[in-house]
Amino acid sequence: MKNTSLSFDTKHLYKGDSSLFISQNTVKTEADHIKKSIEAVEDKLQKGEYGFVEVLPQDSYLKDVRNVYANLKWAEFLVVIGIGGSDLGGRTIIEAFCQKNRSIKVLFTGDSTDPVAYKRILDRIDLNKTVFSIVSKSGGTLETLSSYVFFKSQVKKITSNFAKHFVFTTSGVKGILKDEAARHSIITLPVPEEVGGRFSVLTPVGLLPALAGGVKIEEMVESAYHFATSDTAREIAQEFARSQYELYKQGTKITVMMTYSVQLQEFARWFRQLWAESLGKDNKGILPIKAWGPADQHSQAQFYNQGSPLQSVLFVKIKNRAVNYSLENIDVPEAQYLEGVDFNKIINIEADATMKSIYNNGRPVSMLVIDELNEKSLGELFMLFELSVVYLAEMLGVNAFDQPGVEDGKILINEKLGKK
Ligand code: PA5
Repeated sequence: MKNTSLSFDTKHLYKGDSSLFISQNTVKTEADHIKKSIEAVEDKLQKGEYGFVEVLPQDSYLKDVRNVYANLKWAEFLVVIGIGGSDLGGRTIIEAFCQKNRSIKVLFTGDSTDPVAYKRILDRIDLNKTVFSIVSKSGGTLETLSSYVFFKSQVKKITSNFAKHFVFTTSGVKGILKDEAARHSIITLPVPEEVGGRFSVLTPVGLLPALAGGVKIEEMVESAYHFATSDTAREIAQEFARSQYELYKQGTKITVMMTYSVQLQEFARWFRQLWAESLGKDNKGILPIKAWGPADQHSQAQFYNQGSPLQSVLFVKIKNRAVNYSLENIDVPEAQYLEGVDFNKIINIEADATMKSIYNNGRPVSMLVIDELNEKSLGELFMLFELSVVYLAEMLGVNAFDQPGVEDGKILINEKLGKK
């Protein structure tokens, strides 16, 4: 029986009409190293060394999120403010399931210090009916901190009880937000110490906006855990990591994720961050690029077909959608060939055909198919790419959980702004 709602097809990475495809020689030469790397990760999984997996069965986080959300229900707007790993997971979930008719509207900002971004948010909300969810594991990130102090000053203009308009999601032991919460009795949610920012989507970081958006958070978390603990499901992550490593060894150091779904555009951004920050270090790594089908068929796809042969492309499509429309009673003669065709079919044919055309141009491609997009499959998708990046980091010999380059930038910015 199939264990997940995902299937992954790699055959067009291994066999094709150019030297870019993974050769038998590479498969043979790298087999031992890949096997040892996978075993090393499996061993650490067994020992419970990966916080992003270990945290999933701890339902105290789910309870915390539900309790905090119960206190926020008076609000009409939940404005989530965070950046990087404290931002993209929540956005991904809300975009995937964006529920209509919710009494609370979930908005995101704080990933830019452009003053126009602040004006746009202020124009969309009523401060009296808004809760700002400030998300920062460290508690001190400039973009998040400056956004907090700005919105705090705005809220203080309209009420003496500003604290009611804020909830913090931050690390349990240290940080500016922790101190500020203690000073003003602001409600807080924990970011588990053992889970890094970009791996934190299934902790309160992503789960609070998800719950406010009407998402079944328990199902998403359970399915991610099920994926992580199922041998056959993990094989998909191993397969993806293995093929990416083999491509890397042959010189293909860029991977494109091309998602065919308006519900998965933010997912491609989440993936891009996870892979870039986890793998790009020590002069190594595979650069992740995001592309959106069908839009980028009319843009990036020209390059993927015939430009410098730099990348492999992973296509992601959804087999069946809950919403679909058929084209019927067509009275445009030239469009008759579309009679009876539905949009689910059109978009999936576009994914298949675009993949084929790139393949026919001698470029390696693969396809990930999701049976249906729901809480279960999204939980699996998160885990698939979190695990595959960990396998791949082991193969590359890099630490998936640090980001020294990003930290260098943070230090310089703070210095220039005069932080002591
Ligand atoms: O993955 C990471 O660690 C980063 O992208 C962080 O999430 C990002 O820098 C924000 O950090 P913080 O949550 O401490 O504000």
